Amino acid sequence: MGMANKYSNYQNLFICTLLFLFSTTALLTQAKTSFRPKALVVPVTKDASTLQYLTKINQRTPQVPVKLVVDLGGNFLWVDCDTNYTSSTYRPARCKSTQCSLAKSIGCGTCFSSPKPGCNNNTCSLLPGNTVTEHSTIGEVAQDTLSIQSTNGLTPGRIATVSNFLFTCGSTFLLKGLKKGVSGMAGLGRTKIALPSQFSSAFSFHRKFAICLSSSTGVVFFGDGPYVLLPNVDASKGLSFTPLLTNSVSTSSAEYFIGVKSIVIDGKTVTVKSSLLAIDNNSVGGTKISTVNPYTVLEDSIFKAVTKAFINASVARNIKRVAAVKPFKVCFSGKGVGSTRLGAAVPTVEFVMQNGVTWYVFGANSVVDVHNDGSVLCLGFVNGGKNARTSIVIGGYQLENNLVQFDLAASRLGFSSLLYGRQTTCANFNFTSTV
Ligand SMILES: *[C@@H]1O[C@H](CO)[C@@H](O)[C@H](O)[C@H]1NC(C)=O
Ligand SMILES: *[C@@H]1O[C@H](CO)[C@@H](O)[C@H](O)[C@H]1NC(C)=O
Ligand SMILES: *[C@@H]1O[C@H](CO)[C@@H](O)[C@H](O)[C@H]1NC(C)=O
Ligand SMILES: *[C@@H]1O[C@H](CO)[C@@H](O)[C@H](O)[C@H]1NC(C)=O
Repeated sequence: MGMANKYSNYQNLFICTLLFLFSTTALLTQAKTSFRPKALVVPVTKDASTLQYLTKINQRTPQVPVKLVVDLGGNFLWVDCDTNYTSSTYRPARCKSTQCSLAKSIGCGTCFSSPKPGCNNNTCSLLPGNTVTEHSTIGEVAQDTLSIQSTNGLTPGRIATVSNFLFTCGSTFLLKGLKKGVSGMAGLGRTKIALPSQFSSAFSFHRKFAICLSSSTGVVFFGDGPYVLLPNVDASKGLSFTPLLTNSVSTSSAEYFIGVKSIVIDGKTVTVKSSLLAIDNNSVGGTKISTVNPYTVLEDSIFKAVTKAFINASVARNIKRVAAVKPFKVCFSGKGVGSTRLGAAVPTVEFVMQNGVTWYVFGANSVVDVHNDGSVLCLGFVNGGKNARTSIVIGGYQLENNLVQFDLAASRLGFSSLLYGRQTTCANFNFTSTV
């Protein structure tokens, strides 16, 4: 993620000491928690204009609902502390505290205005980033009360509260580019202070979480399954697994990489330079999963090879090309294209993983019905250019209605494939609370 591109106009804080901290020995001070749920659940709604996936979490005292953009690879929760942050339970993280080392803070700061959330002396800092616009700033690390619904996997249950949830203060300008009304980003990445790890350590549950995105309202589960979707389908069962990869150099990356070894379209392997599929020593290349990219992004040569193969396979199916509709490059007439339980009957795209398992992308996830009337179907992949840092970024549209589980302890990813095949969708969690 494009951290530290912009240090903005934020002059209040300056780093006086750069601390190199080792978090390996740090342990989260035992959270004071309300009760011990086995799992937690939040709804995730897709905004039709920005294509961002949004969630809402209650924070502060008195509690307020905070709208956030879900950032799968994000390092932590950050919220705007400049505007309307009032809370009697706000606690900045003091320099050299356990909290600062757990957060892998980048240093300590002084603030030259009256103390307020985001501006306190002798506190440590991090670089909250807007991963949509790739802007970041420096912000105070802090703790506050955070509440979220627990679940037994079937419906939401009692509210679970973490009294000292660690996050970073962002600034109002950092919200630019995010859906109006949003006040930060919920990072679900591979760090100790991202939401999944903080929840599992606060409640001592499995270091696992799952995302199930929808074009309407999907769901994120923290903790292990069951993840039950109506009518009574446990989506945690029958997953395919593949290892989560770490960048050889940038092991600090919070993002989730998987090992795609080849791409197959309607049974034919697409010729792709294999070096692009590996993560090199400069952490360039490879395949990651992202919720801030609305569509899958392919490096230029991969994009060209994949679109060519998709067009050829479509011709073989008598599917006719029509003029492209932005942001897509390849579109087809929907006339005469059959519809199946898995979406339009277009060529099947397979991402074959290093361990031999296959992630199938069927019509529902490969083509976008751009006019919402079935007339034009566009291949929902975009060109990331020749200098793409990551060769394949599997984006939101391709993830929708697939349950994807991240097992942090085992460092593996589980995926369900398109849930339509099991007669359910990611919009089918029963959010009717039992309490
Ligand atoms: C801040 O709070 C004021 C007063 O409650 C409200 O009118 C305003 O809309 C809020 N601003 C934001 C950005 O939430
Ligand atoms: C922080 O310390 C500086 C220098 O000692 C002082 O000028 C400033 O007022 C203090 N700020 C806060 C928020 O306490
Ligand atoms: C990456 O670095 C390792 C160890 O430093 C080296 O053995 C390997 O050949 C390098 N790989 C590439 C692709 O440069
Ligand atoms: C959803 O959950 C509520 C509360 O447990 C229950 O009353 C309702 O029957 C469930 N809905 C369906 C469709 O199963």
